[in-house]
Amino acid sequence: MSAAADREPGSVEGRLTAEVLARLGGAGTPRVRQVSEALVRHLHAFVREVEPTMEEWAGAIGFLTRTGQMCTDRRQEFILLSDVLGVSMLVDAINHRRPGAATENTVLGPFYVEDPEERPLGADLADGAEGVPLLVEGTVSAADGAPVAGAVVDTWQADADGYYDVQLGEEHRLRARLRCGRDGRFSFWSLVPCSYPIPEDGPVGEMLRAQGRHPYRPAHVHFIVSAPGFDRLVTHVFVAGDPYLTSDAVFGVKDSLIRELERFPAGTAPDGRDVASDWARLRYDFVLAPA
Ligand code: BEZ
Ligand code: FE
Repeated sequence: MSAAADREPGSVEGRLTAEVLARLGGAGTPRVRQVSEALVRHLHAFVREVEPTMEEWAGAIGFLTRTGQMCTDRRQEFILLSDVLGVSMLVDAINHRRPGAATENTVLGPFYVEDPEERPLGADLADGAEGVPLLVEGTVSAADGAPVAGAVVDTWQADADGYYDVQLGEEHRLRARLRCGRDGRFSFWSLVPCSYPIPEDGPVGEMLRAQGRHPYRPAHVHFIVSAPGFDRLVTHVFVAGDPYLTSDAVFGVKDSLIRELERFPAGTAPDGRDVASDWARLRYDFVLAPA
């Protein structure tokens, strides 16, 4: 039989999508039915467009199997897959359509640790790790400019070699919870971050290589800013001038989140700390949207 005849209404190719959709009428809720129907329509359309060989389909199943097998309580390869396909940022954008003044969200990433240790304002989160000292300063305010007293700022970042503490299996460092003062201000010391590759030793790394893509993220510091009555802000501040700002492996960069570092020679910093080497300052003023 010809290929065209295979796609006629009575053939499997011609009738299968409608037949699967017809089985979904008994779904438990309208949402389950809507999502299941869209899943079947889009999956079937994908397969019709790609026309995978049996070997390619087995390869796809193997890829997803290995992605699941790579997941542990410390490694979430499926989230990484969603990140590098731009799906995490799309879901995030749909769920955080904020008013103009509010700071934009970006991806959480896999290296956040719930309930980090609370440190005092001005603390040095580097705890002796090597790198260029970075003074991070900013404010948390509402859209009308009023400071958000007591806002909670969780921060975490990679070290000067591009590794998070949890990747090295070491004591927690370069991460903390800070509580803003009554004036909504926060500050802490860390290290100038660098661009780093996302974990690429699993199926996601394999896929990036097959697609001819690099695994790098531009240098950034992560933040989660929260306060009662406000939408929880999950974001990063990116360092201006980083060569990967236009090709972030996980599509997380937004122009409003990029800031220049100010560079200073060794000397006394504004908070009175004597810094023995060149150091830098990063400022960001976060604006929270109402809950
Ligand atoms: C991160 O910035 O920590 C990150 C985000 C997404 C995937 C991998 C790492
Ligand atoms: Fe990161």
